[in-house]
Amino acid sequence: MSSKILIIGACGQIGTELTTKLRDLHGVNNVIASDINTRNLDLVNSGPFEIIDAKNYNAIHDCCLQNNVKTIYLMAALLSATGEKYPMEAWDLNMNSLFHVLNLAKEKVIDKIFWPSSIAVFGPTTPKINTPQYTICEPTTVYGITKQVGERWCEYYNKKYDVDVRSIRYPGIISHKAMPGGGTTDYAVEIYHEAIKSGTYECFLSEETELPMMFMQDAIKATTELMQTSSENIKVRSAYNLAAISFTPKQVFESIKKYIPDFTISYKPDFRQVIANSWPSSIDDNIARKEWDWQHDFDLDKMTREMIDNLQKLVCKVDLG
Ligand code: SER
Repeated sequence: MSSKILIIGACGQIGTELTTKLRDLHGVNNVIASDINTRNLDLVNSGPFEIIDAKNYNAIHDCCLQNNVKTIYLMAALLSATGEKYPMEAWDLNMNSLFHVLNLAKEKVIDKIFWPSSIAVFGPTTPKINTPQYTICEPTTVYGITKQVGERWCEYYNKKYDVDVRSIRYPGIISHKAMPGGGTTDYAVEIYHEAIKSGTYECFLSEETELPMMFMQDAIKATTELMQTSSENIKVRSAYNLAAISFTPKQVFESIKKYIPDFTISYKPDFRQVIANSWPSSIDDNIARKEWDWQHDFDLDKMTREMIDNLQKLVCKVDLG
């Protein structure tokens, strides 16, 4: 049986588009999508799909053995805003799912892991501008703590047990397919949807809050390129800093206004403002650019064009349907 890829948390914002890309690269039947439920029917019906709870070691183990899975992308997690509401659940899901896949690799059931980290590993004591790869990491969110500790465990399993685990500190990811859920950077997706739907948006961050962001196409490109790079070239076994663009709510609003001149915005910061304030405003990702030739393709205006075009097409389809 040919070796397979398993995506855990495939119905989420990144998992959805990662599944499509990996199926294009490796063939539909070689990529098994899985999630805790079947909430994304398009994805569920697009190829092999299994219901798997990321906290259930036996379910993951059995799926790997039955299907000859050799690579896992672990995309299930509770993000920063939800993590503050359910701290113990975030710790439980984010840490135990990681241990499950790390241990499967240690036991040689699988060969390779992708596990996403995040800019949330940084905290208020981290240098905010052009945050370096190696710097102070004192996260103040539960999500950030799980990602920081997760990075330590990834590096530990790599050094101690030779586990081939690879990771990226994703910035906020902007996309027009599956919605993000429970993150602090989610405003940067919602704003496009509301621009098209209602022409107005109430932002939960203040207008000058600058955060590192990236268009989904770039995030998927980075993920697949990192996984295709030969193992010797991957020197960072915690997680790579990765950057594309940084912007404030005001800047994304102005970018959208170029296409939708009547669009209006108001600002009503909530508890997520405190989280955003603790994160960097820009990231230095030179090591990723040097070690595996990372480069991004989308700046703010190019991304805005792509978001609006695609969301407008979706609205037309719904209207016609
Ligand atoms: N997008 C994530 C969040 O906002 C950060 O990795 O929680």
